[in-house]
Amino acid sequence: MQMSRSTMTAKYGNHKGMCFSLLSTSSEILTFIENEFQVLDDDVFNVTYPKSGTSWMIEILSLIRSDGDPHWSRTVPNWDRMPWLEVKETQEKLKTGLQSPRFFTSHLPFYLFPKSFSRSQAKVIYTIRHPKDELVSLYHFSQMNMYLEVPESFEQELQDFLKGDLIYGSWFNHVLGWTGEKDRANLLIMTYEELLKDLRGCVVRICNFLGKELDEAAIDKVVENATFKNMKDNKMANYSLMPEEVIDQKKSPFLRKGISGDWKNHFTVEQSERFNKVYREKMKDLTVKISWHED
Ligand code: A3P
Repeated sequence: MQMSRSTMTAKYGNHKGMCFSLLSTSSEILTFIENEFQVLDDDVFNVTYPKSGTSWMIEILSLIRSDGDPHWSRTVPNWDRMPWLEVKETQEKLKTGLQSPRFFTSHLPFYLFPKSFSRSQAKVIYTIRHPKDELVSLYHFSQMNMYLEVPESFEQELQDFLKGDLIYGSWFNHVLGWTGEKDRANLLIMTYEELLKDLRGCVVRICNFLGKELDEAAIDKVVENATFKNMKDNKMANYSLMPEEVIDQKKSPFLRKGISGDWKNHFTVEQSERFNKVYREKMKDLTVKISWHED
């Protein structure tokens, strides 16, 4: 019998309709983050559905924060520079206090994001990736990350995606939830594809959004240090510090390909058409224009 991810599996729990890894968080933590965690006005959040460019945005934001100087991003692991809000390890840090302005990463859908965000001036950058490429990236990641269930096949992963039955819930609901907040002045919506196409332009947009003034040379340094190649060479960004039992990069590197369109090497024509049909139906109420919307 095929196990539905909405039900509990050995590695996954379910919190208010969202599948989560039992090794990384818990219902208690998720409840605390939603209802009690106090967002501060100068907090900055990097929010994504998994495999949409989370670690890339951490690198960009770290470099912007340090005026393009790569020292911080080359000496401190990315999970300490921008801790994941909802994971177990971060809860201790929240108790002892983090230096302001606090920079966090999160995969939470909007409906589970801290309620106190709505009353704050805190800034959120939400990055979306073409869902077919996101799915391919997640498929490879699931084989090498022991926090995740290993899919039986790509077809199995695709079916779970279309049902919204993957880690952090439905991609469709995640994107619809966050883009539904597009009119908030403190939310910037970006795409992975824009980052690929014009990284410098995106860095400038992010600086403007954060109210951070960087000169041309500093912007150049942000861009240079946030390239795929330089991140792959940076052990503070490439996850090589993680034990092999947790992240086994012999199976698949964390910084795998870093391109758009790899889905064409994985989807059959039938799978792509099936995906498009569900996508069109579920995303018909999308309120933002995304270049690949009809792809
Ligand atoms: P691929 O598996 O398609 O290569 P996340 O950080 O959300 O887990 O996303 C990981 C994906 O972002 C991986 O995609 C990874 O290669 C890609 N990525 C990370 N840094 C990147 C960069 N500087 N340029 C392009 N892609 C990058």
